[in-house]
Amino acid sequence: MKSSTFTQDTAFQDHVAEGLSAQTKFLSSRYFYDKKGDALFQQIMAMPEYYLTDSEMEIFTEQANDIISAFGMSKNQPFELIELGAGDGTKTVKLLTALEKQNYNFEYLPVDISQNALDQLKDALSSQLPKLKINPKQGEYFKVLESLLISDKPKVILFIGSNLGNLKDEMANKFLQSLSSYLKKDDKILLGLDLIKSVDIVLPAYNDAAGITRDFNLNLLTRINRELGGNFNVDHFSHQPEYSEKTGITKSFIKSDIAQSVTISCLNKTFHFAKDELIHTEISRKYNDAILKQVLSKTNLSLIHKFTDQKKYFTDFLIKKS
Ligand SMILES: C[S@@+](CC[C@H](N)C(=O)[O-])C[C@H]1O[C@@H](n2cnc3c(N)ncnc32)[C@H](O)[C@@H]1O
Repeated sequence: MKSSTFTQDTAFQDHVAEGLSAQTKFLSSRYFYDKKGDALFQQIMAMPEYYLTDSEMEIFTEQANDIISAFGMSKNQPFELIELGAGDGTKTVKLLTALEKQNYNFEYLPVDISQNALDQLKDALSSQLPKLKINPKQGEYFKVLESLLISDKPKVILFIGSNLGNLKDEMANKFLQSLSSYLKKDDKILLGLDLIKSVDIVLPAYNDAAGITRDFNLNLLTRINRELGGNFNVDHFSHQPEYSEKTGITKSFIKSDIAQSVTISCLNKTFHFAKDELIHTEISRKYNDAILKQVLSKTNLSLIHKFTDQKKYFTDFLIKKS
């Protein structure tokens, strides 16, 4: 393969070079979402084991009107509903439908790093909600937020689907501090977080019987092969998730089943893997009120409402900038 056929995404190249050279190897879950990864994530959300989507869907279906009232917008005040990491928007459509029904004056701005996800979302919404004012923005969360600063309309940020859970607590705190810096007084964030619960409920969501979560994790190696000219033999790696109820954190790893070397031609580098060596690919932090309080410390954000499903698996926390 000629180098010109490789991705021009230097951030991806640099990340892979850094992650696979580290003492404890890592790759970021942000790179799960190529076209195949988007499709696999949609399958994950439909799996019987993936309770997160059903729980949050129940909140959005049963409590949409309460959530909207808690936003505290008047009907003639134009506002922006900005969704970070919108994905396929299946849950958000419930909220959008309820807002339209009540004649709120808003524009929906879904933000995602995946253009493919945004294209699919726009297509789906144009048939379901033809009158919706939608303005998709492709890019990294903060780059896009930067470009939205020129507007002085009130904002409601949706950051749902346990997305914040993919960050370690310190990073989550920094993330919320940065997010807060893009907001004005009384702007809101609806933060969808998975709650700490027992291992027999949580772990299967990251290790399903049909092997979709395995395919999702290992697809990262296939993406490196395609975009960076790697020669990973995916059959020699396996998916290894774990969850500790004590810490409330799930971790996913890719395990090297044998001692092996992998060359990534775009990087001009060969990486060595010992038998059973792990590449850390994802964390998913589960929350409770105390952990959220800690993550909100040193921000100008305060909790004003909570919306929880019947089984108490998941909560959408409404947070206000003070
Ligand atoms: C776990 S999915 C959640 C989708 C949706 N919010 C839900 O609840 O179903 C995460 C989404 O965030 C996007 N994403 C991940 N990291 C991102 C980043 N740094 N900037 C923008 N989008 C990102 C991914 O492309 C993906 O569509």
